[in-house]
Amino acid sequence: MNKLIQLENVTAGYDNGIVLRDVSISVSDQDFIGVIGPNGGGKTTLIKLILGLIKPVSGTIQRFDDQQGSFIGYLPQQSHIDRKFPITVQDIVLSGLMSAGTTFNRYSAADKKQALDLLGQMGIGHLARRTAGELSGGQLQRVFICRALISSPKLLILDEPNTFVDNRFEHEMYELLQQFNQKMAIMIISHDVGTISYFVKTIACVNTYLHYHPSNIITEEQLAGYNCPLQIITHGDVPHTVLQKHDHSFDHEHGHTHHHEHTHE
Ligand SMILES: Nc1ncnc2c1ncn2[C@@H]1O[C@H](COP(=O)(O)OP(=O)(O)O)[C@@H](O)[C@H]1O
Ligand SMILES: [Mg+2]
Repeated sequence: MNKLIQLENVTAGYDNGIVLRDVSISVSDQDFIGVIGPNGGGKTTLIKLILGLIKPVSGTIQRFDDQQGSFIGYLPQQSHIDRKFPITVQDIVLSGLMSAGTTFNRYSAADKKQALDLLGQMGIGHLARRTAGELSGGQLQRVFICRALISSPKLLILDEPNTFVDNRFEHEMYELLQQFNQKMAIMIISHDVGTISYFVKTIACVNTYLHYHPSNIITEEQLAGYNCPLQIITHGDVPHTVLQKHDHSFDHEHGHTHHHEHTHE
């Protein structure tokens, strides 16, 4: 296990006040961390710190970047793009390579094939030649996930990727992420603890303070103890609840325990 990121006793915020206090967490190369917490709790701020977009007021952030290949692939919380800009879906995906030093329109045949392969895996290979304006919000979100992935980063960070994605694809997306996790660390932010806890390995609750929970099974009592008062939210007709009862059936393929979902009567 190689450490990629380490935050120690980080306090951070904006001009109008402190948002995160005394946060310590490390991210290693095989991690799949679900970051949960109420709206306004500081989840996106934590990501901005990891990306170096904002600086801490106190504490330290270390990035163990060996400079070989791309370090972080990032899907922002709301990906905006001028939908009238006549860029094709394939070129949006390829633009994820630009930070790695590739100049526009100078992508190799291998890069283009990789973009098409990723789109195919996301179930939208047939849309590669379309422009952004022709896609639905959910389709565009999948394109942005491909863009975050194309540089084969060591750490993939997805900030609420399920926002525009329909239920059926959401499940598929998590399964794909589990496959990608064999090659990269993943941090996924969600306020839907019931769904992500199936797929992640560990959970970080962020609500001003950060409580790291070294398992994907978390009870309501633990959440309350972590000062992480999540609402039990519904997605369409399906209620996602925090799971108190679970069995410990072992998932051989992924090597961590799974649990069954229970809903309140
Ligand atoms: N650019 C900013 N300037 C000032 N305050 C901000 C900024 N971004 C976020 N905040 C505030 O910081 C707090 C945490 O926000 P955020 O990290 O986006 O939370 P989350 O992602 O958990 O919903 C909120 O109160 C929010 O209003
Ligand atoms: Mg956020």
